[in-house]
Amino acid sequence: METTTEKKSVFLSDEELRERINELRTQKNAIILAHYYQVPEIQDIADFVGDSLQLAQKASETEADIIVFAGVHFMAETAKILNPAKKVLLPDLDAGCSLADSCPPADFKRFIEAHPGHKVVSYINCSAAVKTLSDVICTSSNAKAIVDSFPEDQKLIFAPDKNLGSYINSQTGRNMVLWDGSCHVHNQLTDERVIRLKIDNPDAKLIAHPECRGPILQMADYVGSTAALLAFTKTDSNKRYIVATEGGIIYQMQKASPDKEFLVVPSDETCSCNDCPYMKLNTMEKLYLSLKNEKPEILLDERVMEEAKKPILRMLEISKAAKIIK
Ligand code: 13P
Ligand code: SF4
Repeated sequence: METTTEKKSVFLSDEELRERINELRTQKNAIILAHYYQVPEIQDIADFVGDSLQLAQKASETEADIIVFAGVHFMAETAKILNPAKKVLLPDLDAGCSLADSCPPADFKRFIEAHPGHKVVSYINCSAAVKTLSDVICTSSNAKAIVDSFPEDQKLIFAPDKNLGSYINSQTGRNMVLWDGSCHVHNQLTDERVIRLKIDNPDAKLIAHPECRGPILQMADYVGSTAALLAFTKTDSNKRYIVATEGGIIYQMQKASPDKEFLVVPSDETCSCNDCPYMKLNTMEKLYLSLKNEKPEILLDERVMEEAKKPILRMLEISKAAKIIK
């Protein structure tokens, strides 16, 4: 069966694709930002690979004229909101996010209206329209610090990820009202499959992304964002890990710790992988074509960008003050 990483250009070899992308990147003063869930060849050619917060931080300070975002739509939107004058490209415009889709802005507006007196903390995995309805944005690496920045008696709504929201409730002792959304890639991981892996691999530590369901997070030896999980595997003394998140992160883990073994919690009984179908829509060919043709481009309404920028900047300020930086 052909996998995403095996798909080859019918026109250009991998080497030719790499050469042309490198030429275009220099000619056009472009920067390629890639999320850890991208295929290895895209991670290898990117100027910077990171988690959602690191990528937003990088986008906020780049001097490039063009940002090619090898990630999903809400990430490229965030880069555009932070850089309204720059061209932001997403190699495949269909690279969406089931979690962002689980929070339609009109429904969310009604939800907020039904909870007067609440401030709104939204996970970055949401649309620009939902960001305009939020007081502050967070990512999986700064969610606790962002929530802690509010007085203890401040009533809060957390959206759209109920798993992350309920994990942060457990870490902070708060009782935030949660929007009922989730990421299908993480939410489909079952505790049964994790338990089976733990029984078969008693020496392996379980590390999990906070978008996973509560029972998995409770069993985990370590919970963190993709960047935090990677950092943990670099410094921890164990040799084997059961990894409950999207499989793309394994590439960097294996590269950093070639002597360690990483087992992905499989999405179902038919494979040993857990791929985000949206993240995996981006390919080297699409990356090359987007740089060459300078499209598909992210375009947003001016007012939406202005309103969505405020809660994103607030997140960046709080993260800086809390020293949560790349
Ligand atoms: P982080 O990049 O914050 O770990 O989040 C993972 C994710 O689901 C991105 O869509
Ligand atoms: Fe969205 Fe989940 Fe894919 Fe992340 S892994 S981009 S949250 S669908």
